Amino acid sequence: MLKKLTNEYQKLLLNNRRQTDGFSYTIPSPDTYPYQWLWDSCFHAIILSGLNIEDAKAEILSLLSQQFQNGMIPHMIYWENHEKVTFPKIQWGKDVTSTITQPPMIAYAIWQIFQKDKEVDFLKNTYRHLYHFYRYLLNERDPHEKHLIGIMNPDESGEDNSPRFDLPLGLPPQHTFEENIQKRLNLVAQNIECKFDAPFCMRNFFWVKDVPFNAIMVENLRILSQIASKLDFGEDASFFAAEAEKIVLAMRKYMFEDNLFWPTFGENYQKIKIKTWAIFAPLFAQILTKKEAEDLVEKHLLNPREFWTEYKIPTVSIDEPSFDPKSLWRGPVWIGTNWFIYKGLKNYGFLEIAQQIKDSSLKLLSNSGFREYFNPQTGEGLGAKNFTWGGLILDMD
Ligand code: GLC
Repeated sequence: MLKKLTNEYQKLLLNNRRQTDGFSYTIPSPDTYPYQWLWDSCFHAIILSGLNIEDAKAEILSLLSQQFQNGMIPHMIYWENHEKVTFPKIQWGKDVTSTITQPPMIAYAIWQIFQKDKEVDFLKNTYRHLYHFYRYLLNERDPHEKHLIGIMNPDESGEDNSPRFDLPLGLPPQHTFEENIQKRLNLVAQNIECKFDAPFCMRNFFWVKDVPFNAIMVENLRILSQIASKLDFGEDASFFAAEAEKIVLAMRKYMFEDNLFWPTFGENYQKIKIKTWAIFAPLFAQILTKKEAEDLVEKHLLNPREFWTEYKIPTVSIDEPSFDPKSLWRGPVWIGTNWFIYKGLKNYGFLEIAQQIKDSSLKLLSNSGFREYFNPQTGEGLGAKNFTWGGLILDMD
């Protein structure tokens, strides 16, 4: 089954590969997402590192090429299509790129490439970009030095309409997609108005510290520290390692309650207690103790009234009032989030459970094709077609 899927997937990847101005990159879906996206490209690089290492490197170099002066790496690069942007119909304030970022998976992707060919030059060539990007996040997204990284728009989490953001957006658990997107577009407009001043935008319009974003940051800072060591930048290595552990402590201080990590909202760090797959994200960065992890897995992951559905793992617990098995990030299974959970489970030695998530992902892909997301109760494929994230199954080993 995996062999057949791999062959189909390689065709899909080739079909989604684009070259512009000497850069080559992969678009997530030709019909729906015809640009380059940040965390998608990191996923592509991870997948490609096992199939075609040069393409994996090119993917990362394209992504880094549009880094802003202040170090931010934008979540979308339009490349050739920027004049006829059809999706999303959003004015981001710049011609060639968007003006917000996405979960910082870049150090992880580069390290994965390095694990395959041990080519130090690639680390050397990309290090300065990484340094500035992660410094930007540490400085600009944590202006009060609380050691939690903030996002200024739900889209920066990669989970556009997740119910984790209903409260900060002032929306009830049930609302239309149009209402949701309107709120996010307002944030984009406000970001342009304040000339992309992230601390100002976060303080005044959307003050959220999210769990997966911070867990991903921790894991990536630890990796960045290893990269710095490899390149003999001892001071940087210590700095980034220490910053990672400060975030871990801050996550415990501000986010942890009832044995779960919750996103926070506003200057009082109000916890947003909505059970989404985000409660499992700390496993990815080994932030939980073994005992806490066991409790989490037993009470929530393996609970058929929450996350252990017919097709695994829904992005929102099925007992949440906002759960909707067909709406983007409000319930469906995504192979990307399955991959994070799979890696997290393996960190703690839950090998059989991880295998069941892999099997379920395989079943979804072989029954419903490379779709963007899937109904956790019926397995129906939903959203974009010829979507690249399914290839992460190749990195579940
Ligand atoms: C959707 C997803 C986002 C992804 C983008 C491109 O907006 O929510 O995570 O990066 O599509 O695939």
